[in-house]
Amino acid sequence: MYRVVEVVETWEVAKDVKAFRFSEKFDFTPGQFVMTWLPGVGEKPFSLAQRDLIVVKKVGPFTGALFRLKEGDRLWIRGPYGHGFERKGRKIALAGGGIGIPPLYAIATSWRKFFESISLFYGARSKEEITLIDIENYVDELILFTDDGSAGKKGFPTEALAERKGEFGQVYACGPEPMLKAVLKVMNHKNVQISAERYMKCGIGVCGSCNLGKYLVCRDGPVFEGEKLTGLL
Ligand SMILES: Cc1cc2nc3c(=O)[nH]c(=O)nc-3n(C[C@H](O)[C@H](O)[C@H](O)COP(=O)(O)OP(=O)(O)OC[C@H]3O[C@@H](n4cnc5c(N)ncnc54)[C@H](O)[C@@H]3O)c2cc1C
Ligand code: FES
Repeated sequence: MYRVVEVVETWEVAKDVKAFRFSEKFDFTPGQFVMTWLPGVGEKPFSLAQRDLIVVKKVGPFTGALFRLKEGDRLWIRGPYGHGFERKGRKIALAGGGIGIPPLYAIATSWRKFFESISLFYGARSKEEITLIDIENYVDELILFTDDGSAGKKGFPTEALAERKGEFGQVYACGPEPMLKAVLKVMNHKNVQISAERYMKCGIGVCGSCNLGKYLVCRDGPVFEGEKLTGLL
C-alpha cells in the first residue's frame, strides 16, 4: 500500500516553502493528494503538484521533519486519494492564495493544451510569501496581489476576479478558507470548483476527522463543485 520513494531533488520556493521531487511518478488527476509518512514522526496529506512533486510550507512538527530530509532520504507515500478537479471550460481562471498553488500548478502544467487561455489570480501576504513555483510560465496572465502591496497590487485577488468573472467558463480555486469563501461569493457558487482543506488522519474515509458538513473531504473532496459547498464554507 505504501510506495517507498527517495527524495531526488529539493529546492526553496519561498520563505518556509520547499519543493520535493521523488524518485517515482504517480498517476493522478490535478487536485488529488497523497498521504506522506515519516516513520516515528507522522503522516500528512499534500496535493500533488506534478506526478513526482509536492510543494510544502513549514508549519509544524511534520513539515519541520520533512524540511530536514536530504537528497537520497526516503519517504513512504500512499495514494493518490480523493476527487480531483473536473476539466471544464475553455477560458479558465485559477484563483490561488498563499500555499494553495500546488493543485493549480498541476492544472496549468498537465492540462494546458486543453484550454484556450488560463488566467491566474493570486494573492499572498507579502512579496516574500509569494509561492508561485514557476506557474507563471504555464499561464497566459498573472494577476498578482499582496496584502501589503509589496508586490503586484495591494488587496485581494478576488476583487479582480469579481470584475472579470464573466470571461471565464470555469474557476478553479485553492487557498486559505477566507479566500475560498470570497471566491464562492463572487461566483455565486456557480462555475467554480474549490479544493477544500480539513485535518486528515486516515485519508480514505474511515476516521471521520476531515468532515465538512455531510461530506468527508478525503473521500468526497478535496475538490468540490461550488454549489455543493453552499452553507458549508
Ligand atoms: C487535501 C490536502 C492537501 C494539502 N496540500 C498541501 C500542500 O500541497 N502543501 C502544503 O504545504 N500543505 C498542504 N496541506 C496541508 C498540510 O497537510 C498541513 O500543513 C500539514 O498537515 C501540517 O503538518 P505539521 O505537523 O507540520 O503541522 P501541524 O502540527 O499539524 O499544525 C499545522 C497548523 O495546523 C493547525 N492544526 C493542527 N491541528 C489542527 C486541527 N485538528 N484542526 C485544524 N487545524 C489544526 C495548527 O494550529 C497549525 O497552525 C494539505 C492538506 C490537505 C487536507
Ligand atoms: S481523513 Fe479519515 S475520514 Fe477523512
